[in-house]
Formats: sequence, structure tokens, C-alpha cells
Amino acid sequence: MFDLQNILRNNIKNLVPYSSARDEFKGEASVYLDANENAFGSPLDKAYNRYPDPMQYRVKMRLSEIKGVPARNIFLGNGSDEAIDILFRAFCNPGVDNVILVPPTYGMYEVSANINDVETRKVPLTEDYQLNLEGISEAIDKNTKLIFICSPNNPTGNSIDRDDIETLLANFNGIVVVDEAYINFSRQKTFIQELTEYANLVVMQTLSKAWGLAGLRIGMAFASEEIIEVMNRVKPPYNINEASQELALKALQNTDLVNLWIKELLAERDKLVLKLKDFDFVLDIYPSDANFILVKTTDANGIYNFLVQHGIIVRNRTKVELCEGALRITIGTPDENQKLLETLQQYK
Ligand SMILES: Cc1ncc(COP(=O)(O)O)c(C=O)c1O
Repeated sequence: MFDLQNILRNNIKNLVPYSSARDEFKGEASVYLDANENAFGSPLDKAYNRYPDPMQYRVKMRLSEIKGVPARNIFLGNGSDEAIDILFRAFCNPGVDNVILVPPTYGMYEVSANINDVETRKVPLTEDYQLNLEGISEAIDKNTKLIFICSPNNPTGNSIDRDDIETLLANFNGIVVVDEAYINFSRQKTFIQELTEYANLVVMQTLSKAWGLAGLRIGMAFASEEIIEVMNRVKPPYNINEASQELALKALQNTDLVNLWIKELLAERDKLVLKLKDFDFVLDIYPSDANFILVKTTDANGIYNFLVQHGIIVRNRTKVELCEGALRITIGTPDENQKLLETLQQYK
């Protein structure tokens, strides 16, 4: 049985979190002399002299409407990368605990594990980029705290079989993190609606992809109230700056535009896949549920360098396990995709 108290680090269990001025007084006042801010203002058009809301209440309320999940089940991080790091710091004892990764997958899970001195146990995906459940089950021991599943997966682009993820959720006594950074491009349903079913589920999403706000650095984690409370305790007090909160709130009113972009992008993805298949150096293009495609080629290094020479940058993934010969190509605007195709015509 999953019990949060069993997997929480003792130092976090006993942690007295920092209490900021904005935590201690929440009402309206006319004179704020409590946070050592500059009362004169900011040398900008807009006043940024006050610390931001540490719990990002207004942004969470808007996200709650969009996602259909209460604000108390939402954590916001300085990008999902911060949420990943916080999970390590809250649940994994350095030098003792381990986590399961299923490569090829998003690289930050491993980097974050290494930074936190946490062992990674790698159970590669199968040839068709799905979970090896038996391998995962064998790799789990009493010190396994987290399993990271990226779906749709980066860099392969495919979604991971839903039943397999549910098998892990139902049987693993640690936390299963389902990273849905690319979910807006997917035909699959989000796992957010399973939060009421599984106490050990953390779903991560981000405003960096479909929402077009990578520069603002806002990542989301959705989980039980208990897990969110732990993540809030561990995070730096003012982890989302005021400008990002304001701009995110404004952008989150623009769902129609984002949905239109997603539709256009998916049409562009289909077009690009069809055209790329005509090149004889393209061996395979994997089915994608994301805003990129993984293209297996006869010569990833040669094509990559050729594109660089022509000012076009894609991601060379040929050194990644199970991705030999593969380039990961983000879907661009129609003009950018056309330029990519025209340049590839010239590749010999
Ligand atoms: C699967 C996955 N998760 C998380 C991230 C990072 O997102 P953020 O910009 O919110 O830190 C990325 C970025 O490429 C990603 O591919």
C-alpha cells in the first residue's frame, strides 16, 4: 500500500518551512514595511518592487478552471524542471534511494538524479518504445522512490500504453511521475483525471510547449493535496516571479488561439511526415503524439551538419540508446518546414 509518510525523507517530514512576509500577512494594508522591499518603486514602467504571491493563487485558479482540478492539487514550478528537482529533494535520500528511468526519455530526470546523488536504474523501453513492465518490476526494491514515465515521450514522440502506466500506479508503493509536457498535441487523455484514483500519481505539464511560454518558465505538477503540500514546503518561497505570473494569467485567457495553433501544428506535422518519407535517406518516421517527430536516417551526423551549415538546427539523437541514426525535428511554422524540406532536397 502506498503511504506518503513511508517515502518522505525524514528531514522533509520534520522541516519547518521558511515563512515569508507574504505568507504571514495576507490581507490588504496601506503601508507595507514587512519585507525589506524598496518602497520607492522600480526603475521600470511597471512596479515590480513587491515580492510576488508565493502560492501563485490567481494563476492556479485559472489553471483550475482550464484543467478541471482544484487549485489545492496544483503545484507551480520555475519550469517542470524545478518540479522534477523538488521531487528528488523531497523523496530521495542521497546515496541511499533510487529511481527508475525508462530510456530513451527526457534527459533532465537523470541529470536531476545525479545532482541529488540519487541512483538511477535504467530499464530501456522495448523496440516499439513501450514499457518493459517485467524489467521495471525486477528493478524495483525497497529504496525505489520514483518512476518517471514521459508520455508522449521525448525524444520518441509516442504515447506510452495507458494500461501499463495504470499497472505501475496500482502496484508500486512509491510515486509514479507521468510527464505530460506534450499532452496538448496528443490524441490520448491526460492522467489528471486519475488523481482521485491513485494517491501515488504526479502528473506534470508545462506552459513551455503548446502554450508558447517557454521563456516564462512555468511548469505544473498535479497530485494529491498531501504531495502538493510537501512540494510547496520544499520549493523556494518566491519561485514564480511576478512578471511571469502576470503574463501567464493573461496568456491563459487565450485558449482559442492556442487551440488553433495546435490544430495547425498537427496538420503541419502530417504534411512534413508525408514529404520526409520521400527522401531516400529517411528510413523511418515514428508515430508522434507530440510537436516533434523522430526521424530515422541513414546518416544522422551528416544530415545534422548539413542542416547546421544552412542555418537549420534539429536535435541529433543518434548517440541515444534505441535512437541510432535518428534526428528529432520540432514542427515549425509552414515557412520553416518548407525551408527544411527545400534544404534537405539539396542533401546528397
Ligand atoms: C518531457 C519534458 N518534460 C519537461 C520539459 C521541461 O519543461 P519546462 O520548460 O517546463 O522546464 C521538457 C522540455 O523539453 C520535456 O521535453
